[in-house]
Amino acid sequence: SLRVLTGITTSGTPHLGNYVGAIRPAVRASLVSGSESFYFLADYHALIKIDEPARIQQSTLEIAATWLAAGLDPARVTFYRQSDIPEIPELTWLLTCVTAKGILNRAHAYKASVDKNNAAGEDPDADINAGLFMYPVLMAADILMFNAHKVPVGRDQIQHIEMARDIAQRFNHLYGEHFVLPEAAIEESVATLPGLDGRKMSKSYDNTIPLFTPREQLRKLIAGIVTDSRAPGEPKDTEGSALFQIYQAFATPEETETLRKAYADGIAWGDAKQMLFERIDQEVAPMRATYQSFIDNPGKLEDILLAGAAKARKLATPFTADLRRAVGLRNLT
Ligand code: TYM
Repeated sequence: SLRVLTGITTSGTPHLGNYVGAIRPAVRASLVSGSESFYFLADYHALIKIDEPARIQQSTLEIAATWLAAGLDPARVTFYRQSDIPEIPELTWLLTCVTAKGILNRAHAYKASVDKNNAAGEDPDADINAGLFMYPVLMAADILMFNAHKVPVGRDQIQHIEMARDIAQRFNHLYGEHFVLPEAAIEESVATLPGLDGRKMSKSYDNTIPLFTPREQLRKLIAGIVTDSRAPGEPKDTEGSALFQIYQAFATPEETETLRKAYADGIAWGDAKQMLFERIDQEVAPMRATYQSFIDNPGKLEDILLAGAAKARKLATPFTADLRRAVGLRNLT
């Protein structure tokens, strides 16, 4: 069967970009019969950026509760925490040894940090930990461990999935056909959701709208989305409008057409923001209570995650044994 897998780094509070780029399409994919889904909390990845244990734990709780509130059925999918699967760092090492250092040098996230240091006249590797450099190999291990075919992600993750393919190909070439070559699954209309300032919505830009922010806070945040200074009655451009793009990610095609016409007819920014607020709130409101019930009951969440880890390891343990054998390591009993 077709295997679908994706993860979210536990480095902050889930935002609208995570929801439309990964969580919503992944939950939908999990409902398609004949597919098998693997969704996880990437807490090893979080350590690259965060050295505050309490923040990792809080984020893990929030992201897990978000998946479940968004309709993920843990009985139907394999839902787990990355660090509960010790075979993943083990596979990371096997993959590290077939990964060309040059492809890691070219990874966008690492390169962006180097470029920033260069621009500031600093040592190119100042403040860069080796985890950031190795990030794509750990991510390849996440994907290849479960032989995922499709990986629903936002556009920013495409390069990582291409690297996972390269690494899989190299391993297969050296040791035989062990891995499926994964592909990114991108939802074109929401591939990069803009944030409050119009740049990609991202924890690192501090421009996010948290998915489960209280209603009045949601209204306030939406009021702060950047617009141009055109007055009510003046036609507005949908092109490059963050407000329009966010609306489109939540609305039906018909609703989007209605807003497009309203832009042409010179809708006031305040009214457009009100439309966006209502549209998002309509989608989020039914999920709020479930989210809160899990936040208030972390024990229940923990049970779900541990059951998911046991399910995942039923596959990971024998597969890792095969891989150890393939590369010439002793078989663990
Ligand atoms: P992360 O935690 O940065 O983001 C989680 C998911 O949300 C998507 N996303 C967006 N989509 C659209 N618009 C946005 N503004 C936006 N911001 C974030 C991301 O594309 C991603 O799909 N490396 C991954 C986590 C990871 C993973 C994996 C993913 C670890 N192992 C294996 C897939 C498969 C990350 O940091 O995503």
